[in-house]
Amino acid sequence: MNIRLFKPSVGEEELTNIKDAFERSWIGLGPKVNEFEEEWKKFLSCDTAIGLNSATAALHLALKVFGFPEGKKVLVPSLTFSSTASAILYNRLIPVFVDSDPVTLGMSLEDLNNKYDKDCVAVISVHYAGHPVPMDKLVPWANERNLKVIEDCAHTTGANYKGRPLGTWGDIGCYSFEEKKLMTTGDGGMIVSNDPELLKDVKAMRWVGIDKDNWKTAKEYTNANKDAMHWYYELNVLGYKYNMNDLAASIGLAQLKKLPAMNKRRGEIINMYMDGISKLKSIKPLLPYEPDKYVYQMFGVRAENKEDLILYLKSKGIATGCHYTPLHMQPLFKEYQGNCPVAEKEYYKMITLPLHADLTDEEVEYIVEHLNEFEKDQ
Ligand SMILES: Cc1ncc(COP(=O)(O)O)c(C=O)c1O
Repeated sequence: MNIRLFKPSVGEEELTNIKDAFERSWIGLGPKVNEFEEEWKKFLSCDTAIGLNSATAALHLALKVFGFPEGKKVLVPSLTFSSTASAILYNRLIPVFVDSDPVTLGMSLEDLNNKYDKDCVAVISVHYAGHPVPMDKLVPWANERNLKVIEDCAHTTGANYKGRPLGTWGDIGCYSFEEKKLMTTGDGGMIVSNDPELLKDVKAMRWVGIDKDNWKTAKEYTNANKDAMHWYYELNVLGYKYNMNDLAASIGLAQLKKLPAMNKRRGEIINMYMDGISKLKSIKPLLPYEPDKYVYQMFGVRAENKEDLILYLKSKGIATGCHYTPLHMQPLFKEYQGNCPVAEKEYYKMITLPLHADLTDEEVEYIVEHLNEFEKDQ
């Protein structure tokens, strides 16, 4: 056996959509991006959705639109991917690392309160592995302190928390369609908000400062009318090359249709893991998984003997990972405030196991069998 940790679930539907884009010979920023954005707005019941080339870009722009003065602070969990905190540095702001809740490993609201000071301007919550941060508590806490709330939804796509889609609790939500995520476009992202005013410049910011639907005006280039200025655009904001393209959006449209089935399968796999390791003493589920309620991009365990277990699973052809080295321990971020003992302690025990919609029952059974074997041999 050779079992991958993550794997995109792509096939005929995506190929058909790409072929369509090829046949129209419009594969850059175009109508498919627009169509995907419209579908995304319906999917989340949100006001504005703008397609980007990554969640990293979404996080960068999410902070950018507020125009915070240089040197202000942003509260961010230490246990997250680099992009969540890099976006703070891109904006010349200062990350303040918040420790994990010992049960959910999401941002600890208690530590959040401890780390807050008057220089803080925003908080980025990450729904770690897909388990929701209690947004019903976080948002009022942030509002009382006049902090903006950005949700990093790279690990959750399609879940509601207390009746409201994750990603729409804060001021801005950021999604990732990178290939390991719940749904993919190869690489891609989406920035969403229920306040259109907030994202009014993002269409220009994502495409080098140009706010123009080029594919709509393309036919004007050969229209024998009296307009000799069809090519004109104005630059009003500093933009980046962050746009999604029609190839990515074509894949995304197919993936969005498949998302409920893919999420359901992930839930089934998590239930199989949970049943399969329920009697083990040295290997425990990393989080209080509730796959019937939420969607999970990762499944992890807490193991007494992390390195031995990783090596053992490797020898059986089972890929593992570790998400993440807490960012305050990374050389890049060492200079920033980061007393996060829970994240550090968990880091020495956490192992990520394979989770993707194409995993077969046989593969999950094989992994579970070897987790049991490992404990027996200890
Ligand atoms: C929590 C988190 N935030 C942001 C990102 C960045 O996503 P992207 O690769 O789409 O830029 C990732 C990617 O792994 C992530 O895990």
